[in-house]
Amino acid sequence: MHIRILGSAAGGGFPQWNCNCRNCLGVRRQELNARRRTQSSIAIRGADETAWTLVNASPDILAQLQANPQLQPARANRDTGIRNIVLTDSQIDHTTGLLMLRESPKPWPLWCTDNVFADLTTANPILQVLQRYCGVSRQTIPAAERENDVFTVEGCDDLRWRALALPGRPPPYSQREAQPGDVIGLAVEDVSTNRRLCYAPGVASIDPWLFEVMSSADCVLVDGTFWTDDELIRLGVSHKRAADMGHLTQSGGMIGWLDRLPAATRRVLIHINNTNPILIEDSPEREILTSHRIEVAYDGMEIVL
Ligand code: MLT
Ligand code: MN
Ligand code: ZN
Repeated sequence: MHIRILGSAAGGGFPQWNCNCRNCLGVRRQELNARRRTQSSIAIRGADETAWTLVNASPDILAQLQANPQLQPARANRDTGIRNIVLTDSQIDHTTGLLMLRESPKPWPLWCTDNVFADLTTANPILQVLQRYCGVSRQTIPAAERENDVFTVEGCDDLRWRALALPGRPPPYSQREAQPGDVIGLAVEDVSTNRRLCYAPGVASIDPWLFEVMSSADCVLVDGTFWTDDELIRLGVSHKRAADMGHLTQSGGMIGWLDRLPAATRRVLIHINNTNPILIEDSPEREILTSHRIEVAYDGMEIVL
């Protein structure tokens, strides 16, 4: 299984257009040892080099596709290596890119839970808009239980997907109460190699059952949004805590959970907010991660399992 990190930042990207926090100002002025990052999205494939599944469609998708020519096999005048799209939630940073993919000659096979479909057809009706262009062929991700039935996406036959119903929140624009299926993680297994990925870019807490799933993976690619719960409050840019936004922080528990994984498990943080000190490669916080053998995803990173 090949995993390509198209975008490793949380909503807003890094630097964020209107942000002058230490990180954003520093990277904009090239005074910090930090890489720029686009908004959260990955692509996964099995043995077929031309059959990718896009997981989340970020507002930066066009730049991401330009930066990752592996996703363009160029077999015809109009072509793409993206066969399917899977969504883990209905957040703006994970869904707006769908509108940028409207030139597709056929409807996009779009995998999402019922809750996500509801948001994208009511409070933020981008699927209705898209219906006037390429349209989508909606496929239901079962997410009624914590761990759900396996599904396979067409054209990527060696991969088996399973939704993990995670504790989280619907997006601010959605008027719904929080329900299971608002936020999912994905357990992806390559049945030809028996290698497994656990992907959870947004997770509010880790319960023992989720830890079991993470423990059976060869690589966990998990929520790296915030270092501390009051990161945004202390900067004076928001009144929201990480917990209010559905993110488990590194200092508030994530490092401890990752420490308990089997020694061979690769641990990678993703969906990193621009305020997080781990973005600075020579920061003390980054050194702490390194000492715990935790990696920080970057745009263009390739993970081969
Ligand atoms: C989140 O996951 O909390 C987001 O990155 C927030 C956003 O996109 O506005
Ligand atoms: Mn996000
Ligand atoms: Zn910033």
